[in-house]
Amino acid sequence: MQPTEPSSRPLHWLSPLVYLSSNFISLAGVVLATAGGVSWFFLLPALSQSTNQNPYLGILWLADLGVLLAGLALIPLGIILRRRKLRGAGGEPAFPPLTLQSPQLRRLLGFVLVTTVANVVIAGHLTYSGIEYMDTQQFCGQVCHVVMQPEFVAYQQSPHARVACVECHIGPGASWFVRSKLSGMGQVLAVALNNYPRPIPSPVENLRPARETCEQCHWPQRFTGEKMMVHTEYSDDEQNSAATTVLLMKVGGRAWNGTVGIHGAHMADNTKIEYIATDAKRQTIPQVIYTDVNGKQTVYNDTGNKVTPDQLAHGERRVMDCVDCHNRPTHVFQLPDRALDDAMANGNISPSLPYIKKQALAALKTEYPDRVTARKQISSTLDAFYQKNYPSVYSGDRKNVDAAITAVEAIYERNIFPEMKVTWGSYVNNLGHMDSPGCFRCHDGSHTSADGRTIPNDCSTCHELAAMEEKNPKILSDLGLSPGQAGAGSN
Ligand code: HEC
Ligand code: HEC
Ligand code: HEC
Ligand code: HEC
Ligand code: HEC
Repeated sequence: MQPTEPSSRPLHWLSPLVYLSSNFISLAGVVLATAGGVSWFFLLPALSQSTNQNPYLGILWLADLGVLLAGLALIPLGIILRRRKLRGAGGEPAFPPLTLQSPQLRRLLGFVLVTTVANVVIAGHLTYSGIEYMDTQQFCGQVCHVVMQPEFVAYQQSPHARVACVECHIGPGASWFVRSKLSGMGQVLAVALNNYPRPIPSPVENLRPARETCEQCHWPQRFTGEKMMVHTEYSDDEQNSAATTVLLMKVGGRAWNGTVGIHGAHMADNTKIEYIATDAKRQTIPQVIYTDVNGKQTVYNDTGNKVTPDQLAHGERRVMDCVDCHNRPTHVFQLPDRALDDAMANGNISPSLPYIKKQALAALKTEYPDRVTARKQISSTLDAFYQKNYPSVYSGDRKNVDAAITAVEAIYERNIFPEMKVTWGSYVNNLGHMDSPGCFRCHDGSHTSADGRTIPNDCSTCHELAAMEEKNPKILSDLGLSPGQAGAGSN
């Protein structure tokens, strides 16, 4: 089988390879391998950039690797199949000498040349436009549609609906933004294999530091003063009786005499608050370390939750930043009670409908297998309730009944995502203390230092309660507002 005079032709060993690889399968392999190689070349600059690392590059990179490997596998496969076929047909021919005159070599080289040129153009264009596309919120929110649906839907209704996902999520050190315990590439695979965690865990470890994201647009020391916040609650009686709470939140910031208020206490440049959390959701905080202007440290320990030094050592230690309070600045999921109150205060649901708060709350709290069923059943239950119990409302005030149904469905649809196991309260909001511990993770009156100081907990530390669950708060009428008016949109 060996051709003659091996020593006179140094490239002789290549000859059978070139000859045998002149087949469709191997040539297709050559196309794929060059395509993979050339795209890799274009991806390289973006992949090796250590600052603005775009995690979606992972998807591209993985796809590229797949193409390259498939190409490389096809080449020998073609050779083997061809060889087998030739042998079956009576043996391999004596391989012709390998010179540029050899038609096989010319065909192969020509093929490589043409595919390379084509690939340079195609891959260059695709990579460039692909990376641009991946910065858009359409890609983030919709390509991994089911996975990101809860965050995408919440985001669209939020004050940051015009801020691209990547502005908050991509940055140095951040890998894939649904990062949990898997590596960046593991996350891409998890989506491909459909075994990602549901719901997606929060907090996001290694979120891009707030200093680099939030502070691009928000000046942390800007003096915000006191912010009036109005919340009207409706009870579950027939009249949906309303009671309004008015808070003056001491947001503060930098004032003429230093920093004041909530932002002042936590976000001053010359002080630092660190804490140790012992659970993954950062809800249990047994120790807080406060460094004041003079660099003096005060350690506050939770006297109500004594932990061992070992437990402390295993906790997560973190410097407090914006996201420790504003952990839901854009993916704002509500609780049903609060969501209904807001809808009733701003008129999307008419408080004149008898028992609407109670009925709507029950409809929202029912568990449904999927969103389509939920929509149908919410609508039919509420419809039937008024038709049966309040026929005069049903016939006379039908417009309000229908509007209420639409609003209740909308509340369900922007908060509950059965496929992602996201339901009421799946994601806690740390900005407050009524629905989850929030501020009271530290300001609970039992975080005390060795010298007997306590992280303050008086009600007026953070806000003045200008009215507490009043029917018609005087402060609002003094300002010429009605509870409904003031409540609308102030959340
Ligand atoms: C204004 C900044 C901001 C924008 C814009 C933003 N996010 Fe987030 N995102 C956050 C913060 C803050 C968290 C919670 C971080 C934490 O608690 O550690 C988060 C959490 C998440 C999580 C983890 C699950 C969860 O709900 O906590 C996912 C998934 C996510 N975001 C996806 C997206 C997508 C998709 C977009 C664009 C459609 C987007 N984000 C836009 C700030 C943002
Ligand atoms: C690209 C600019 C941009 C970035 C980045 C950004 N924000 Fe904002 N943020 C805005 C704008 C603009 C508004 C006002 C929106 C409005 O009033 O409709 C806003 C509003 C807010 C509000 C007030 C919301 C309310 O209900 O009134 C808070 C709180 C907030 N941002 C926190 C954050 C936090 C925390 C981050 C970082 C995780 C962040 N923002 C990142 C632009 C930004
Ligand atoms: C200790 C908790 C805490 C920290 C840390 C914190 N905030 Fe706030 N912030 C609040 C509270 C409480 C409010 C008032 C309630 C609200 O607006 O919902 C507020 C209000 C705001 C508002 C709205 C102001 C207005 O006039 O409507 C913005 C914007 C904001 N914060 C941005 C930030 C940014 C950016 C950071 C990080 C540099 C930050 N906050 C850090 C608790 C915090
Ligand atoms: C991780 C712990 C932690 C959390 C969570 C936290 N704080 Fe604080 N807060 C502190 C510490 C520590 C101090 C400084 C105590 C000191 O002066 O020694 C402080 C100080 C303050 C002060 C100034 C008090 C004063 O009179 O000097 C205000 C106001 C405040 N926090 C509001 C809030 C609000 C509002 C929230 C929730 C949105 C919140 N904090 C969440 C740890 C925390
Ligand atoms: C460490 C700061 C802090 C302390 C101390 C504090 N609060 Fe609050 N409180 C908040 C914040 C922040 C919110 C949420 C504002 C929002 O909705 O964004 C809030 C909200 C409320 C609300 C409104 C809930 C609603 O209906 O929306 C009430 C009522 C309230 N607090 C009562 C109290 C009382 C009573 C005390 C004293 C036992 C107290 N707070 C102590 C920070 C504090």
